[in-house]
Amino acid sequence: VARPVPVLAIDGPSASGKGTVAARVAAALGWHYLDSGSLYRLVALAAMRAGVPLDDERGVAALAAALPASFEDGRVLLSGEDVTDGIRSEACSVGASKVAVLAAVRAALFDRQRDYRAAPGLVAEGRDMGSVVFPDAGIKVFLTASAEARAERRYKQLIEKGSAANMESLLKDLQERDARDAARPVAPLLKLPDAVLLDTTERNVEQAVAFVLDLVRAGGEAA
Ligand code: DC
Repeated sequence: VARPVPVLAIDGPSASGKGTVAARVAAALGWHYLDSGSLYRLVALAAMRAGVPLDDERGVAALAAALPASFEDGRVLLSGEDVTDGIRSEACSVGASKVAVLAAVRAALFDRQRDYRAAPGLVAEGRDMGSVVFPDAGIKVFLTASAEARAERRYKQLIEKGSAANMESLLKDLQERDARDAARPVAPLLKLPDAVLLDTTERNVEQAVAFVLDLVRAGGEAA
């Protein structure tokens, strides 16, 4: 019997650094990488552009099912247009967390996410990688940090990019989004009993990457 392709699931709240950590771990292992949040961001962007209200479940799900998205060399394309930076805007962050509460939208993205599972392995990052999309993942990590630490990181990123940023409103937005992601009835963000907790409040990216790589190596073939 062929062994299933190993999956490392990394779930956690917004701005926890899980995207950076997951991408680096995938590169170090030579595994594929799924940034599932980018799919929800793309759906939100597609809906806003098409004038479909973000709470129109059928309309948004139809867009999600036929999402003309592709990923090339670290760039994110929507209908061939480079929207890598566009989907990181606050509007898309808020929009993504709104469309993500819709069960039909999540269902429409399910197979697309599962298709990323290919040899030699997959690092999948999001909110429900370990709970819904890859429940049989050999290693599950819940990567988090205090809301203050996360808001501060986002603040620094924005300032570095030359954007305006307000610490107070960033923290408030983050807490609202956390609440929406955790309180929704479908696939809420949660720490699974079989997930390893990785709190990066006091850890930098290198330390977090090393922690996860140690887990994979210790889990070895079991991943
Ligand atoms: O990880 P992120 O910040 O790019 O995710 C954007 C939004 O998408 C976030 O509010 C939660 C949602 N999301 C989700 O519901 N399930 C996932 N697997 C990934 C993201």
